[in-house]
Amino acid sequence: MQDKVPAGLDRKETEVYRRLDPERIPKHIAIIMDGNGRWAKRRHMPRVAGHRAGVTAVRSTVETAARIHISALTLYAFSEENCKKRPKSEVDFLMRLLSRYLKGEVPTLNKNNIRLEYIGRQHELPEDVQERMAWAREATARNSGMVLTLALNYSARSELVDAFRAMVSAASRNGGLEHLRIDEDTVGRHLYTRHLPDPDLVVRTSGEMRLSNFLLWQLAYAEIYVTPTLWPDFRGLHLLEGIAEYQKRERRYGGLNHSESNRDDGHAALETSSALHGQKS
Ligand code: FPP
Repeated sequence: MQDKVPAGLDRKETEVYRRLDPERIPKHIAIIMDGNGRWAKRRHMPRVAGHRAGVTAVRSTVETAARIHISALTLYAFSEENCKKRPKSEVDFLMRLLSRYLKGEVPTLNKNNIRLEYIGRQHELPEDVQERMAWAREATARNSGMVLTLALNYSARSELVDAFRAMVSAASRNGGLEHLRIDEDTVGRHLYTRHLPDPDLVVRTSGEMRLSNFLLWQLAYAEIYVTPTLWPDFRGLHLLEGIAEYQKRERRYGGLNHSESNRDDGHAALETSSALHGQKS
């Protein structure tokens, strides 16, 4: 379908890319990166080896997404639950891994014109990690290409709680609660993701069919693509396969599909005309 292939795609990626419709590339893709522990277990390695291998998958996915001009990519790196319920040694490892990733990756993000953002309760992360995060965001702030958002210590329910608290506090600072007006736009403007459109596609690796408290408000109409591939094995090629699957779906946003709506319009017209002429259709 595609003649022009973006620079930098390898042979297999190019093959899948050629089958895509350039007009229907999703603007925002969100990914639940899962399966690091299982990947390591299958190799009789410690869980953290799976997380380390997961960084290679992040790199490949981010680069391919930027090359095909996805506007926004959001990666669920660690949930609030991960931070609270995993052994301290694993959480500490993940924090060091994140810090190292940010330090090492900024030049590549800049080369690919990628701007870094974060969602989640950052103030609960270790201070040195927060400082590294702020540094990396600032170092990429002037890039105008893809927005890469890392969900760190993130929970969709906490995000909604924080949004409602922010709305109430803004109203009480601006004339009192009687001025509080809540509608979908207002909620959207108080979410951590206010810098992003809603995702069109959510990908989950490792075969689990759950949203796991990820972007519950924003994923209302997203297409869901679940792949059995474990996160450390995921690459840009798998992302392109997910996009190919997405393009097979018809998004209806609660309406009818094109042919149904034409057929029903036809029936309605026929019934109106029969009623007018006293006939049965
Ligand atoms: C889920 O696998 C993955 C995580 C909790 C951590 C994700 C971290 C990375 C991919 C690497 C670091 C990320 C960045 C952005 C530098 P799991 O441990 O729950 O796997 P399991 O379900 O097989 O146990």
